[in-house]
Amino acid sequence: MSALQEEEVLSVHHWTDSLFTFTTTRDSSLRFSNGHFTMIGLRVDGKPLLRAYSIVSANYEDHLEFLSIKVPDGPLTSRLQHIKVGDKIVVGRKPTGTLVTDYLLPGKRLYLLSTGTGLAPFMSIIRDPDAYEKFDQIILVHGVRTVDELAYHDLLVEHLPNHEFLGDLVSSKLRYYPTVTREQYKTMGRVTDLISSGKLFNDLNVPEINAAEDRVMICGSPAMLRDLKKMLEDRGFAEGNTSTPGHFVIERAFAEQ
Ligand code: A2P
Repeated sequence: MSALQEEEVLSVHHWTDSLFTFTTTRDSSLRFSNGHFTMIGLRVDGKPLLRAYSIVSANYEDHLEFLSIKVPDGPLTSRLQHIKVGDKIVVGRKPTGTLVTDYLLPGKRLYLLSTGTGLAPFMSIIRDPDAYEKFDQIILVHGVRTVDELAYHDLLVEHLPNHEFLGDLVSSKLRYYPTVTREQYKTMGRVTDLISSGKLFNDLNVPEINAAEDRVMICGSPAMLRDLKKMLEDRGFAEGNTSTPGHFVIERAFAEQ
């Protein structure tokens, strides 16, 4: 069997001039865990041009969804941003990654800390009933520069709490904390600053983040990962990976493509 599968684009939505999302058909044999990424892309002159993308959709859905930035001279996204319904994209058959709840030790609260397109894998996890079974609360933090970059805001605030199957779990266990750094908004500041000042915990009315109770997944820019990893390690958190579960796991948001 080929390592790549051709899928058809089902919908495209542009959030901003530099951020868009699209859905595709899904081969029924493709298996993945919520939080995984896979290689996707286009055929250019007959050859696959691929980059890693986190899967936004949950693993029980019959379509795939991806969130992408548009880089004007990015080899893939300069082309991918023009895709239309009915176009073909290439999807790798071997999804993988570390942002999987199995790679975390049991805990009370699950923090999903993201910036920019780092939100993508967490959209899959917050639609996973198992994640709600494992944790009393899931706290999703999304940091962006401008309000219009808060992708999926309305889905998170309006649609998911009323979802036919997930609505009760989402309403009772999911806390969504969007934060904006370069425009006025009700909640502002970098994720790192919100943690060190304690504002995040005050606003959510939860105890200060601690390794005894809290588990964390982080997805964002290399600088954001580095800073948050250090902050957690200073608080006694140990990093987990695919072979040894820990208090937190990290993955770079796959941008600059
Ligand atoms: P800021 O506006 O202060 O740079 P980007 O679009 O550059 O990936 O940034 C997305 C969001 O992540 C922005 O709100 C940005 O804040 C924030 N950010 C950038 N670097 C860090 C970091 N090291 N730690 C936490 N947040 C960061």
